Amino acid sequence: MTAFDTADITRQLRAAGCVFAEDEARLLIGAAASDTELTALLARRIAGTPLEHLLGWVQFRGIRIGVRDGVFVPRQRSALLVDEALGLAAVRPVRTVVDLCCGSGALGLALLTELGTRSAELVAADIDPVAVACARENLAAVGGPVYRGDLFDALPDTLRGRIDILLANTPYVPSSLIARLPPEARDHEPPMALDGGPDGLDLARRTAAGAPGWLAPGGSLLIEIGVDQIPAATELLTGSGLVARIVRSPDLDATVAVGRRPAATSAR
Ligand SMILES: C[S@@+](CC[C@H](N)C(=O)[O-])C[C@H]1O[C@@H](n2cnc3c(N)ncnc32)[C@H](O)[C@@H]1O
Repeated sequence: MTAFDTADITRQLRAAGCVFAEDEARLLIGAAASDTELTALLARRIAGTPLEHLLGWVQFRGIRIGVRDGVFVPRQRSALLVDEALGLAAVRPVRTVVDLCCGSGALGLALLTELGTRSAELVAADIDPVAVACARENLAAVGGPVYRGDLFDALPDTLRGRIDILLANTPYVPSSLIARLPPEARDHEPPMALDGGPDGLDLARRTAAGAPGWLAPGGSLLIEIGVDQIPAATELLTGSGLVARIVRSPDLDATVAVGRRPAATSAR
């Protein structure tokens, strides 16, 4: 690099409102192959493009996950879904993991990696072809197929009644609040990855309704929700015949609703 130095780039990023300007400057400098490229990256970052889309990756639970324009950037708070799934796997064998609404595939990839890639099969699905292409690249290393389609419609019938862990980070922002999201999300992530309908739970509701037919007896559905959605999420899981439980991490500012299919019921 000749035209720029780290301090100058940090100053520009800080002026644009980047909280971790020094880290971002270092990462952008590392990602650029030339001064011209660095100028272009810096301009896009200052204009609000998420850092992760510029770098092409995000670090999630110690794994470098590929992300690209138009794909939801995995949030660090979603580590709670993986923690909770690992907790369930510690008390009950997990053979089949499904990452529904998979986006980049970060959640399924992190879970399978931490469970041990040989101990379980991973299947992922998303409705958005851009997300499906991204997840296919990320999951190639662990051999997990990624299907495209609307929620359970995407999955092969052979999975019915067999899923031990069903991760579903469904969009959960109420439609009326989308306009208040930070520009990085509002302007650079697809609305269908964010907008959960009037109360934010449209997709969660449909997922819970379908889950009993796909979960193995004793298997669990894990959905990330907002803290103010706890009562409604509990009700929709219970209403679907699942045993509901809420997990909250103040450190991650994350909430997960868990719905377990009772071991004795038959699939609906
Ligand atoms: C909040 S993002 C979560 C992505 C990923 N699981 C993560 O945590 O990084 C929600 C994802 O749901 C997908 N999605 C939205 N509606 C869907 C539907 N009807 N069926 C399947 N996927 C859907 C979006 O394309 C998006 O990738």
